[in-house]
Amino acid sequence: ADFFKTLEEKSDGGTLRGNYENADERYVVKQDWNAYTPEQHALWRRLYERQAKLVPGRACDVFIEALAGLDASGGIPDLQRASESLYRATKWELVAVPGLIPDLTFFEHLAARRFPVTVWLREPEEFDYIVEPDIFHDFFGHVPLLFNPLFADYLQEYGRGGMKALEHDALKYLARLYWYTVEFGLIQSPEGLRAYGAGILSSGGEIDYCLTSPKPRRVMLDAERTMRTLYKIDSYQETYFVIRDFAHLFSTTEPDFTPLYEILKTEEALPADTLLPGESNVPPNPAAGG
Ligand code: PHE
Ligand code: FE
Repeated sequence: ADFFKTLEEKSDGGTLRGNYENADERYVVKQDWNAYTPEQHALWRRLYERQAKLVPGRACDVFIEALAGLDASGGIPDLQRASESLYRATKWELVAVPGLIPDLTFFEHLAARRFPVTVWLREPEEFDYIVEPDIFHDFFGHVPLLFNPLFADYLQEYGRGGMKALEHDALKYLARLYWYTVEFGLIQSPEGLRAYGAGILSSGGEIDYCLTSPKPRRVMLDAERTMRTLYKIDSYQETYFVIRDFAHLFSTTEPDFTPLYEILKTEEALPADTLLPGESNVPPNPAAGG
């Protein structure tokens, strides 16, 4: 993975990197686009250029199309402008945040079709690897998929589901689903396996590894199986979960999870490298990107 902390890890204390002083009660700040330095815009362009070269043949079509439409190759994007174009497409908006935000606040934003985007950019030394999500991960990785109506609805439902999971003391299960779909999901296409997860799409190394390496497992998405599975935060994933299409993602997660959470609480979690008996391992796509 190109960053470590997520829904689960961030609450364990430790100091966050952003400046939270001017955040409002929803943790929203002003982006202050004019404060980015020429060096920061240049670093963005280098990140963008490296990653844009890798997406053809590796990212799903909707990502590639929406990324081109966002026109963010020239420098750190103005979130307000991108938000307006996203709103016209799927009625989602972008809000600027100082960094990671509390779970409930995060879910409330998603449930209201607002995607929080971190305002700060990594340092040059962090080109390949970053501990907390920055604007490059949040914008390049997450925003393009929000132009897809089915994915956009999925993420709103995820936000609602998050609020419910908090009530059921089931956040760790739902966080695994986020990790294995929104961050590290793979999708089938007529041309072969593609990536749609933001953690993959914003990573210079994992974007190829996840498709071509024979090492990790690739298992079809299933709500119970996925929410039972532990994940790696400090290395490439040992298992990826594959969807047939975005309708598959939506239908898998649509049922009421309340009874499932009760089952999950009685089950032992599965190590990240599990392949269950009888489970088929979707083959890699060695020609990806070629
Ligand atoms: N259906 C889930 C529930 O009942 C909510 C959910 C929807 C979770 C979509 C994730 C994604 O809790
Ligand atoms: Fe992310």
